[in-house]
Amino acid sequence: KNSNKVIIVSNRLPVKIERKESGLVISPSEGGLATGLGSIYNEGNNIWVGWPGIIPENEEEKSFITDELRELNLVPVFLTEEEILGYYESFSNEVLWPICHYSPSYAVYDSDNWATYVQANEKFGQIVREYLEPEDTVWVHDYQLMLLPNILRRQNEKLSIGYFQHIPFPPDEVFRSIPWRNELLLGILGADLIAFHTFNDAQHFLDACTHILNIPIRNNYLQIRGRSAYVEVYPMGIDFDKFNTLSKDAAVKERATEIKQYFKQRKIILSIDRLDYSKGIIQRIKAFEELLKNYPELREQVVLYMLVVPSRDKVKQYKKLRDEIDRRVGNINSVYGSTDWTPIAYFYNSYPVEELSSLYVAADVCLITSIRDGMNLVSKEYIASKEETSGVLVLSELAGAAKELIDAVHVNPNSMDQISHALHFALHMSEEEKLNRMSANFELVKKFNIHHWVEIFFARMREIKIQQKKEF
Ligand code: UDP
Ligand code: G6P
Repeated sequence: KNSNKVIIVSNRLPVKIERKESGLVISPSEGGLATGLGSIYNEGNNIWVGWPGIIPENEEEKSFITDELRELNLVPVFLTEEEILGYYESFSNEVLWPICHYSPSYAVYDSDNWATYVQANEKFGQIVREYLEPEDTVWVHDYQLMLLPNILRRQNEKLSIGYFQHIPFPPDEVFRSIPWRNELLLGILGADLIAFHTFNDAQHFLDACTHILNIPIRNNYLQIRGRSAYVEVYPMGIDFDKFNTLSKDAAVKERATEIKQYFKQRKIILSIDRLDYSKGIIQRIKAFEELLKNYPELREQVVLYMLVVPSRDKVKQYKKLRDEIDRRVGNINSVYGSTDWTPIAYFYNSYPVEELSSLYVAADVCLITSIRDGMNLVSKEYIASKEETSGVLVLSELAGAAKELIDAVHVNPNSMDQISHALHFALHMSEEEKLNRMSANFELVKKFNIHHWVEIFFARMREIKIQQKKEF
């Protein structure tokens, strides 16, 4: 029997299954949660429970997928069409996502969607229980599963439960806008250890517990139904070795040279993100236009290589954003471009990690303009890829990563002036300054990598359990 295993639970598994003409195809999922944890979960007897991104057509297909995933220590939760719409697209991504990214005007409240969110969280709970043994630790990830910690807690007072939220937690008055905020907070409070990427997120969560639920807080600690819960900060790292090793790989370096040649040795400003209004893609395009306007001597000398990964394309705000990006990119390219030069190279696609690595190696500047971002792993992946080549990270001060990567060039993403000045500054930076800034960030990304993150989280979980046993 598996004893003391860890059960990771998240809405999305680290792999997704898609229906193609050739049959079912399995590939890695996009997004920080999946890429970050994807390289460490399958140690020992651990399992990961989550949605494989597909609706099986029949029972046979369902068991085929289940068997394939079992080989990878993954357990599928099959969501129905109704659940995908009400729980995932609507409640998770049209209420919780905008609220947690400080955009309440994008939130759409509907009690049927809330009911489906509750139902889907219960469904994840049932599947976890099929695999759960008393000594296991359950680690719940992210906002789609805010109710799950307490669903599991109701069954077992002593179970070890951790909750990590990968996106920001907003100021309590913003969170209060949600009609079901009490239920959501109580859902999370089923965990023993509740963790966020930054100090502000943790503080906002504690504020919400005090001001909305009237629970007294002592530092980072609170008591709920006689049990103690801790609220702490663990900034997530990346698989440093993977990105660092890839950046030195011969094929990757060759591909990077090819990319540079393709752009005729012009300076490459790189951006990589999912299609999302939280990433400040429109602001980035506008700022790049400012750069071309304010510094005409840079025209023909730079390109903005913009990779946007398709995401949540059935949700209204995402569709709108895609149309707006198309329009603005087309406009800039037609106004400023020449027969020989296209200012913005825009790709709406998802790339394998080797291609991402080649882009990191080739890029002179990596530009991150998030309006709000829990952490932002792309910024760390860029740094891990820059041991042998030089580059500058221009980073939004509103991304969680800015709290750690203090040697990047920081910008306020709402100021087109600041971004275009920062780009000009980055493009003219001396090699010495580039190196100084990069090496300070590099050491940090290397040391506080994903393994370190997982280790300190679990060490703390164990400590808390020992502490709680004394209290019982
Ligand atoms: N990514 C990917 N495929 C792509 C482009 C990006 O898997 O084609 C990955 C990227 O390497 C990074 C993640 O998606 O690990 C994005 O994480 P981040 O924290 O920057 O943003 P999130 O998508 O989680 O908001
Ligand atoms: C962010 C969220 C994750 C999510 C990912 C991709 O990283 O924190 O929970 O999985 O985006 O989004 P998706 O909706 O495709 O799962």
